[in-house]
Amino acid sequence: MPISSPIERVEIAGGVEVRPLCDAVGAEVSGVDLGRIDDRTFDLIIEAWDAHSALLFRGQNLSEADLVSFSRRFGELDLPPVMENGRTPVPGYPEIYIVSNILDADGKPIGSLGAGEAVWHTDMSYLEVPPDASMLYALEIPERGGDTWLAGMHAAFMALPPDLRRAIEGRSIKHDGTYNSGGYLRAGVTPSDDPVTSVGTPHPIVCNHPRTGHPALYLGRRRNAYVMGLPLDESEALLDALWAHATRPEFSYAHRWQVGDLLLWDNRATLHRRDPFDPASRRLMYRTQIRGSTAPRAA
Ligand code: SIN
Repeated sequence: MPISSPIERVEIAGGVEVRPLCDAVGAEVSGVDLGRIDDRTFDLIIEAWDAHSALLFRGQNLSEADLVSFSRRFGELDLPPVMENGRTPVPGYPEIYIVSNILDADGKPIGSLGAGEAVWHTDMSYLEVPPDASMLYALEIPERGGDTWLAGMHAAFMALPPDLRRAIEGRSIKHDGTYNSGGYLRAGVTPSDDPVTSVGTPHPIVCNHPRTGHPALYLGRRRNAYVMGLPLDESEALLDALWAHATRPEFSYAHRWQVGDLLLWDNRATLHRRDPFDPASRRLMYRTQIRGSTAPRAA
């Protein structure tokens, strides 16, 4: 079923407005203070989330406790992966992960991912049951750069050319667990650049969303990915074609951050990436992650 959301559409229910960010993915929800929402408003948020796969809430003023409490409404939270600096990010709030390039008084990073590009990916897809969703809350942003991009994988699936659709039918990708989206080696993993033998978990390339039933491409990340059962050169060619299609501009939205923005995305229906920014500027984001409810299931 194609998504049919003309960009100008605005819905109003109980003071809540939902405005699509583009045709393929995302909507801005306004009229909501995430620090004090009731069950009815949360139901509207879930409805909008199912329809658009990613939601933007601007102008929020959330404490750590508010962020954790809003995140918990979606399900159990994951404890984040150990940061590259080996530390627990926010004392008292183990569920909050810091994404930042800021250095502490000893010159050590207070968070992960630095100031470089984070390539297209969906979070922790190398797990058997990857996280359902992730959210980022902006505390400090650079003057320019550091935009976060989303791509809608239901729209990308629906627009697949017939030959590509045929080529991926019934196939799975092994999702590599060696490197994160910033290119950093994950803690405790042996470096490898061999897609066939590197550690990872296979998932079907086309999965049905467990809540909406909509089929979507589930690609993970490109580095070290491998289409199970194919000779490596055929796997590489198929993955290149798939990634070129899935990240086309018509399926993407680029988010220019303001302090107080909260962006929530569904890992089962989107990819995301981040632009690099000037390392001399400061960017500070809090991130939470909703634990996976089920393994990705073939469409
Ligand atoms: C991420 O890939 O989770 C981080 C995205 C960002 O820093 O904008």
